[in-house]
Amino acid sequence: MGTLLNALRRAVGDEHVLVDHDLKRAYETDWTGRFSGTAHAVVRPADTAEVVAVVRACREEGTPLVIQGGNTGLVGGGVPAGGEVLLSLTRLTAVREVDVPAAQVTVGAGVTLGMLQRHARVHGLDVGVDLAARDSATIGGMVATNAGGVRVLRYGSMRAQVAGAEAVLADGSVISRLGGLAKDNTGYDLVSLLCGSEGTLGILTQLRVRLVPQLPAAAVALLALSDTATAVDLLPVLRAGLPSLVAAELFLADGLALVRAHAGLPPPFPSAYPAYVLLECAAVTDPTQRLVDVVAELPDVLDSAVATDAAGRRALWAYREQHTEAINAAGVPVKLDVTVPLGSLPTLVERLPSAVAAVAPEVRLVLFGHVNEGNLHVNVLDAATRADAVTDVVLRLVSELRGSISSEHGIGRAKVPWLGLSRSATEITAMQAVKDALDPRGLLNPGVLLAARVTP
Ligand code: FAD
Ligand code: MLT
Ligand code: ZN
Repeated sequence: MGTLLNALRRAVGDEHVLVDHDLKRAYETDWTGRFSGTAHAVVRPADTAEVVAVVRACREEGTPLVIQGGNTGLVGGGVPAGGEVLLSLTRLTAVREVDVPAAQVTVGAGVTLGMLQRHARVHGLDVGVDLAARDSATIGGMVATNAGGVRVLRYGSMRAQVAGAEAVLADGSVISRLGGLAKDNTGYDLVSLLCGSEGTLGILTQLRVRLVPQLPAAAVALLALSDTATAVDLLPVLRAGLPSLVAAELFLADGLALVRAHAGLPPPFPSAYPAYVLLECAAVTDPTQRLVDVVAELPDVLDSAVATDAAGRRALWAYREQHTEAINAAGVPVKLDVTVPLGSLPTLVERLPSAVAAVAPEVRLVLFGHVNEGNLHVNVLDAATRADAVTDVVLRLVSELRGSISSEHGIGRAKVPWLGLSRSATEITAMQAVKDALDPRGLLNPGVLLAARVTP
């Protein structure tokens, strides 16, 4: 192992190979505090050539790597199981000039979403995906997880924003497709394959990102509703009446109470209601009047508030965006991120409390999500000793409703045993064959997405 450390030091410089327990600690535990493991060393390369050197050194010694970006992932995929070299990509922060005619830009994998947003906005452009972890989540991590976020209904998930990528494979070779051609039908789409591969097929080092026009005028509405079914019923009316709609987010009374207590926020309305939907419209010209008119005509809305100025919009968004932090502040949650067909979302919300209580009676359930996609974030607090039972019962219910066990966070380490609920045996065999072809010795993120194989 001394040989490996020396090779790693030669690859990235002494100060970027961390072996001290205190220095490694922040990298070894995930954002939720639920997943952690000890890394042999944390290695912080500065560019693609250094990543290649690190991969070659690890391959030489047969030491696996765990790949990490901003460490905001919520399924344990970016932290070690134990003994791996942890490859942190946060120093890959090169940002190239925005290609304005193409509306694209090439950035290092360690650039955060917030950095990219600021870079694009100088040119009147923006990033299609947005999420609350924007100041830490990296573009490499977002592509690796095919992140979703709060604007999927308008722009799609991260895969739809990717025009090209550079990646280091497990043998140290480099794939580079950063040309950003709008049309390119030359065989297997390897870049798309890397999207959502959760670091199991290659290490993304640079990304060519599609940008969208920045929409300077925005308005936000918060609707109070009697239940999730009403939220789902309103969606066709909202989509038809509001061409400028970019976000439709759902949260419930318990989540709002937790957020208000955590962040010290005032109540949004004089009375409390069972369910809330937050809408954002964004356009070149002010969408406020249209939003006000459409909301006024909606059936079954118990109360509503509309904000146009930036401070008012932020205040309404805080009720939704603060959910993740408020939940984490209340304890280490079991977080499950699922999608069901939209028509089944009310059934899922209705059946979850009794299903979970049957295996873990004392837990607290906090539900919220991206309602347009049928994406529910199921957060279970006080479930530490019953984590597997809770996961099992929730994911089986989702599967019964013909849903997916991962909507946007990925499988990570958290859901590997349940992958068969969403993928057939044939599909898993095909995925394993792709993994074996690109990483025959199982060196990249073993135990993430697919069960780790013991290689002879
Ligand atoms: P990490 O956590 O470091 O890694 C995530 C996975 O990607 C791991 O498997 C890792 O091995 C792999 N990986 C990382 N970088 C690379 C790379 N360069 N090459 C290959 N593999 C790599 N997610 C959503 O989808 N939607 C949301 O709305 C959303 N909101 C969030 C809000 C908060 C407050 C938090 C804490 C998280 C949220 N997330 C959300 C989850 C998280 O931000 C995303 O999964 C994000 O894409 C992770 O990026 P990261 O750089 O932190 O990746
Ligand atoms: C969100 O939509 O806020 C995220 O996916 C994070 C979470 O699930 O907590
Ligand atoms: Zn989400």
